[in-house]
Amino acid sequence: MINADPKRGIFHLTCEEFSYILQIKDGRLLQLYFGAPIADADLSYLLPCFASGSSFNQPVHHLPLELPTLGSGWYGEPALGAIGSDGNNVTELRYQDYKILPHKEDLPGLPSLSQPPTAMRGQNETKDDGTLQILLKDELTGLAAVLSYSIVSGTLARSMELINTSDAPIKLTHMASATLTLPLLPPAGSGDSDYSLIHLQGNWARERRVVRTPLGRAETKIESQRGASGHEENPFLALAAPGADENSGDIYALSLIYSGSFQASAQVRDFDNVYLSIGLNPLTHNWLLESGEHFVCPEAVLVYANRGLNQMSHLFHRIYRDHLCRSKWAGMERPVLINNWEATYFDINEEKVMALAKTAAKIGVELLVMDDGWFGNRFDDHRSLGDWYENPIKLPHGLAGLAKKVNQAGLKFGLWVEPEMISPDSDLYRAHPDWCLHAPGRTRTEGRNQLILDLSREDVQDFIIHTMKHILNSANIAYIKWDMNRNMTESFSALQTPERQMETQHRYMLGLYRVLDEVTSAFPDVLFESCSGGGGRFDAGMLYYMPQTWTSDDTDAVERLKIQYGTSLVYPASAMGAHVSASPNHQVGRKTDISMRADVAIGGNFGFELDLDKLSREDLAAARDYVAKVKKLRHLTSQGTFSRLLSPFDAPNYRAANYVAWQFADQQDLLLCIYRVLSEPNPFIHRVRLTDLDPNALYQADETDPSLPACFKGRTFTGAALMQVGVPMIFKGQQDFCSQLILFHRVKEK
Ligand code: DGJ
Repeated sequence: MINADPKRGIFHLTCEEFSYILQIKDGRLLQLYFGAPIADADLSYLLPCFASGSSFNQPVHHLPLELPTLGSGWYGEPALGAIGSDGNNVTELRYQDYKILPHKEDLPGLPSLSQPPTAMRGQNETKDDGTLQILLKDELTGLAAVLSYSIVSGTLARSMELINTSDAPIKLTHMASATLTLPLLPPAGSGDSDYSLIHLQGNWARERRVVRTPLGRAETKIESQRGASGHEENPFLALAAPGADENSGDIYALSLIYSGSFQASAQVRDFDNVYLSIGLNPLTHNWLLESGEHFVCPEAVLVYANRGLNQMSHLFHRIYRDHLCRSKWAGMERPVLINNWEATYFDINEEKVMALAKTAAKIGVELLVMDDGWFGNRFDDHRSLGDWYENPIKLPHGLAGLAKKVNQAGLKFGLWVEPEMISPDSDLYRAHPDWCLHAPGRTRTEGRNQLILDLSREDVQDFIIHTMKHILNSANIAYIKWDMNRNMTESFSALQTPERQMETQHRYMLGLYRVLDEVTSAFPDVLFESCSGGGGRFDAGMLYYMPQTWTSDDTDAVERLKIQYGTSLVYPASAMGAHVSASPNHQVGRKTDISMRADVAIGGNFGFELDLDKLSREDLAAARDYVAKVKKLRHLTSQGTFSRLLSPFDAPNYRAANYVAWQFADQQDLLLCIYRVLSEPNPFIHRVRLTDLDPNALYQADETDPSLPACFKGRTFTGAALMQVGVPMIFKGQQDFCSQLILFHRVKEK
């Protein structure tokens, strides 16, 4: 619900999950509250808390400004910075007006959340009421900001449009999408500095590890300058109150719907108040706004949860699955696939694809994906990106012929592409050497022997759109894996004027989004999966166009526990690609049983990435059984509520870190997934407590599962017992890397 009281200058957005209260004071827009829902919107009695006591602090420095600006006495990271044509960097925004739009509108050219039409709202969905827009303006410079707020299924979507209403150009230097400057109310006996900061850090093949550190007085910056959200940090941060854990305590989180360079910052400021921000990275993004022009910042999503990190994740999962992904696949079960990459790498041809397809069909796999190496002279990673035509030696019957054969074998056909890249050794580069990002007089830095096409250029965008449409029309292609295997250097465009070069990275993203929009809309039945050397662009921006992402190039089951666990903080399991690969694993050399590998992959969109013909007869039979199991369970793993139970990170003691557990639940069923990393001597049988069950309902473990431990057989359990007493973690055998899945069904009382 959006309540506006312009006479008292109060705006109150509220729903079952939160209240967000803004109030105007002396023309300035203040953020007075974000937290559990409250009825009283007038919080003006708090204003004395923000009085300045010293001549060294300008009044605005103390204020919880909704949009802190550069140059006018706010001595922290600004959310908005602008330089006028006279070189003046002062921006002072004052409230002008507001309006409430009946619907949430899409952001032009950018991915964003949508509110479902009333008729399509699910039973449990809160009513989301349009959008509150508040207009602020600097009368002197003519820079105006329209701030938009929409409640989307228990979360707050926030975006900002900047408009130059003056006759002279304005240079935008800081453009954050959301900030939290609010005074928190820490539990008694603690201060804001006792909050902790949670973010997702990593690198290639070890993405999104959960990092939780005390919130310092020194500013923490979480960022990417790479022209991609990156493997290293994710455009997300959360603040956890002292003692908050998976199931209890206050969490404030920000996530950005954007796939390029970003910056998030967190700090306890000098009067013990927290400051959080998220948006475009000022190191990589400036924008010249000519008279009359508009600039739209990416959308940020704010989440408040008072039942811990799992509740935060439930909110993110719901909006990113149900209100972000546009693909018709968002709510559909995904096909079990086999990808040839780790089976053959570049050494792929029709014969090998068909051998994989035939065995895959026998065990029930539904989709075959031909990965890198099928085009141009692509025998290794030194050439041919940009030459998107079949290699006639590898594919004598072309893509169309191969797709037909794969279809005849009973599988759908999918294809790998990397359309944003260009190899210096390619026909495309020889024809268009200026189509890549490059700076005059400087080395064109290569990464994986390739350069990046300059997607800020319309002719390059058109080329990619045309090429992709041509490929997709040329054969019966049901799936596309859209890869991107390096980050930006020399973010400079041959077509841009000097004063606009700092716009190249954002113009690239706008170009990419245009390309993705056109290609995915033209082929609505195709399932698209994004990828960037695994999870180097696992963000909400990409999920808008492509409902799933290849989570990591690390397919080792034990490493995947951490990667999938960390990813789940923000992104739903239905967004994660997860494959069973060979043992020993190609990234870490670890040997694991097929049961461990499959039990981990069941936690995402399940597939294989190995040569099935090299499996033993027993393992192939096990693979076939898993495919059947996945088909039975995937409604639950893709659409059920995912909760984390035991963490592989920073556990209080060795034992706890050694065990990992999560669950998927809907009204009827609960799938418990438990993992033990290392075997223990004389082991103690630990218990794990389930969550999200009806305490009074009765549940029974699925006894058709031959691996079910005997103690569960012939029994029913109340939800209360499963949640309070817990489930014993019993593993088969005494060995490292064990797993066990248990499916509980809700049963009727006898
Ligand atoms: C990186 C991807 O993450 C891999 O799965 C594979 O597609 C390779 N690129 C192919 O070059």
